[in-house]
Amino acid sequence: MQLEFALLDEESNIQSFDCGEDQLNYYLTDLALLFQRRRFGVTIIMFDKNDSKKKVMGFYTLCPASVQLDSLPEKFLKGPKPNPIPAFRICRLAIDKHFQGKGLGQLIFIHALQKCLDQSSQIGGSIIIIDAKHEKAKSFYERFGFISLLNNPLILVQTIKYIQLHFNS
Ligand SMILES: CC(C)(COP(=O)(O)OP(=O)(O)OC[C@H]1O[C@@H](n2cnc3c(N)ncnc32)[C@H](O)[C@@H]1OP(=O)(O)O)[C@@H](O)C(=O)NCCC(=O)NCCS
Repeated sequence: MQLEFALLDEESNIQSFDCGEDQLNYYLTDLALLFQRRRFGVTIIMFDKNDSKKKVMGFYTLCPASVQLDSLPEKFLKGPKPNPIPAFRICRLAIDKHFQGKGLGQLIFIHALQKCLDQSSQIGGSIIIIDAKHEKAKSFYERFGFISLLNNPLILVQTIKYIQLHFNS
């Protein structure tokens, strides 16, 4: 398998994507490209270069964000900071169910983190926020050191500094 990451476009083979969650499937097949054209976020797809159909195996969507200081855990608050803090949001992320459990979720997630890291050195942004759809998804992100917001346990955060230390390739 030779994995490739690319920006979602009209040619992407997304129609049969099925991660087991209808809302996420619908988002990818019916909304993601429209949202991207309207600059609500960008969607990165992952596929096998050797697959003649280039079927999408996974995707994530990123957009700019900000976080209010009073929603952050105390350890994020050392030193002077703007309020709100500029951030990146990983709005959605999923792997097709045929490919789950093979390490691809981890791989695409690290790709998303590295994209945030690259962007932060270009335009700023010092926090990554993730929307977890449910407790199961939350525990996936907690494995990578992400911590729940005080006012919403399904929104997780970590600093760019932490990502740089732990995930920079
Ligand atoms: C959550 C999801 C992205 C994980 O992808 P995956 O390819 O199955 O995960 P991986 O095989 O890369 O697993 C990486 C590690 O995370 C663990 N893991 C996988 N899913 C997990 C979960 N829901 N909770 C806790 N740990 C999880 C795996 O056991 C593995 O650990 P190991 O390295 O110690 O073996 C995938 O199951 C998915 O798309 N689910 C449906 C959509 C969804 O819930 N998206 C989440 C965002 S809202």
